[in-house]
Amino acid sequence: GGVTADAAWAEEIRSLAERRDAVLLAHNYQLPEIQEIADHTGDSLALSRIAAESDASTIVFCGVHFMAETAKMLSPDKTVLIPDARAGCSLADSITGEQLREWKAEHPGAVVVSYVNTTAEVKAETDICCTSSNAVDVVASIPADREVLFCPDQFLGAHVKRVTGRENLHIWAGECHVHAGINGPELAERAEEDPGADLFIHPECGCATSALYLAGEGAVAEDRVKILSTGDMLTAARETKAESVLVATEVGMLHQLRKAAPEIDFRAVNDRASCRYMKMITPAALLRSLREGADEVRVAPEIAERGRASVRRMIEIGT
Ligand code: 13P
Ligand code: SF4
Repeated sequence: GGVTADAAWAEEIRSLAERRDAVLLAHNYQLPEIQEIADHTGDSLALSRIAAESDASTIVFCGVHFMAETAKMLSPDKTVLIPDARAGCSLADSITGEQLREWKAEHPGAVVVSYVNTTAEVKAETDICCTSSNAVDVVASIPADREVLFCPDQFLGAHVKRVTGRENLHIWAGECHVHAGINGPELAERAEEDPGADLFIHPECGCATSALYLAGEGAVAEDRVKILSTGDMLTAARETKAESVLVATEVGMLHQLRKAAPEIDFRAVNDRASCRYMKMITPAALLRSLREGADEVRVAPEIAERGRASVRRMIEIGT
């Protein structure tokens, strides 16, 4: 506490980062001041790729634990720090390695696709990881006759099933509490108030199906409904002709969207959709992290070894 993100703070962060040969990565849901000090911001796929390619000997991951863990799996020789190791993820907590092993035993021969929002132990039981920006491509890369087990997010799974039309895709019933809480009635109400707005919807949202339903009913023009990862929302923001956009995702996203397209009026569908884990990475936590070299992220070598191939496939597909 007591630390503000002022010029002296920024200077100290930059000089400590240089001394540690550290690259600072920040997810699009981070606090604006954290996004502004970072070397790179992005969605989970983009940040994994940057972490894999970086020459820096230390990665400071301003995001949640599974993201830092994924970076460590890709670069076992680097020091990976997260400013607060308690920054977890309710979605990653919705399936354990043991539960996935039991599910696999019920479907021998199935290909396991896990969302990157999973623990290292779950990744070690996985054939291919995916993120929201390449989930459809990852599933489409699997031969049509193979059964697929998709975990842990039920809404992303439903989206992938809808787009690929794949009947042999089984979906785990997990969810992110933040995105699941952005609901259909709320979205319908906002869309009715602003019929000309685009709808940018993260596929983890409970309201993704409602958005397509609204389009089906003619309440919203079909080409205004866009189901996108956080990184793809930024691309769409630069391309759209809409004057206003209703955004269904974690509210941290609004910062990059407003920077990408200052002339557009971006409005949160649910302005209480804030991830308390993402917000644990405060200016004070980042400063402590760089001063003390903490919290260091470690992954047991045998788990990292088994999970690395699934993460590598994820960063290779959909480029
Ligand atoms: P993306 O940045 O990949 O869209 O992920 C969203 C998310 O919930 C990460 O926690
Ligand atoms: Fe996890 Fe949801 Fe927070 Fe993303 S927004 S880190 S999925 S709890």
